Amino acid sequence: MLEIAGEFDLPSDRVWLNAAHQGPLPGRAASAVAEMVRWKQQPHHLKRSEPFIEIPGRLRLVLADLISAPEVEIVLANSSSYGLHLVANGLGLGPGDEVVVAANDFPSDILPWLRLEAAGSKVVQVKPAGGVLTADEVREAITSRTRVVCLTWVHSFTGQVSDLAGIGEICLSADALFVVNGSQGVGGLPIAPGDLPIDVLTGVGFKWLCGPYGTGFCWLGPRASDRVSPTKLYWLNALTADDLVTPGLDLGTITPSATGRHDIFGTANFFNFAAFAESVGLVANTGVARVREHNLALASFLVDGVDRNLYDVGDRGDPERLSSIVFLRPLTGSVEDVSVHLNTEGIDVAARMGRIRLAPHFYNTEADIAKALAALNGYLR
Ligand SMILES: Cc1ncc(COP(=O)(O)O)c(C=O)c1O
Repeated sequence: MLEIAGEFDLPSDRVWLNAAHQGPLPGRAASAVAEMVRWKQQPHHLKRSEPFIEIPGRLRLVLADLISAPEVEIVLANSSSYGLHLVANGLGLGPGDEVVVAANDFPSDILPWLRLEAAGSKVVQVKPAGGVLTADEVREAITSRTRVVCLTWVHSFTGQVSDLAGIGEICLSADALFVVNGSQGVGGLPIAPGDLPIDVLTGVGFKWLCGPYGTGFCWLGPRASDRVSPTKLYWLNALTADDLVTPGLDLGTITPSATGRHDIFGTANFFNFAAFAESVGLVANTGVARVREHNLALASFLVDGVDRNLYDVGDRGDPERLSSIVFLRPLTGSVEDVSVHLNTEGIDVAARMGRIRLAPHFYNTEADIAKALAALNGYLR
């Protein structure tokens, strides 16, 4: 059992089973925001250059630690879309180039590439036979023109987990970059992207990492780093306010740092990033392998307890690669009616693509799942 309930301030009369939408902010992150608000109220704290370096530096370090990657490979972002656009716009794709995506994927994984079709590249949207594209389906879709395969790791609308190793090997042998959206996985399942045949891992910070909304990250592996051209030169990547103190600044001779060269502007966005660093630290210190074990135990308690006369659990995918996201299709009553019923009973879930999505995370307990089961199984049309 994980001893982390005291880290959160969730109301005792409700059960939050919706990490796939938003993770709650832990107390330590809320305290960090309060401290940053004080800094902004009394801006002499911001007169110095150190906080502008120290806060993004700390965030980069905890993210690097979380996914066992060097800090230079971590891009600070405000979303997963930031990383996806960074890569899409930095590859110089043009006529003849193809990008393979899953037709049922989250829009963030498709839109950055679709936007480029105006410049002549083509998006090949492949419909998976199951919940996620298999390695064989990707192999069939790849041609000599494929430059990128972009997929989610844990699927937002099926909960199934993509075979990163199998798909990645196929991409590698076709010399296509494998771009992975880890928004629904990172924080709930362990990952060390450098040990996998993948090139890019993006993610939001506000779901399984329990950061504020408007946070995210991107990991660029060596192949991606070589191919993605920076589209900006941000002054804070090469200078600090201290460089502006005396006259005679020669911008022609400044040297941008490799670390952070793809970061979003305003990385010292104190309210979000100081808190995000605390949230990631909590997940990392708890240990993602332990979080996974805890979450999967709750998910199987849920799946085993649900009344099959009332709900279809559907296909959860390869049992070797499960996530804790569970989808239920009500057999009696509409998804909307069941959602309203659960909400009235204090159970917070999401309705997605005609099914109820339940996403337990490390702050949830067996008692939470028992309450959810009582509400689910007590629903009568
Ligand atoms: C897989 C996935 N990617 C991305 C997002 C949204 O993030 P962004 O706004 O960064 O695209 C979500 C959910 O909101 C998601 O489930």
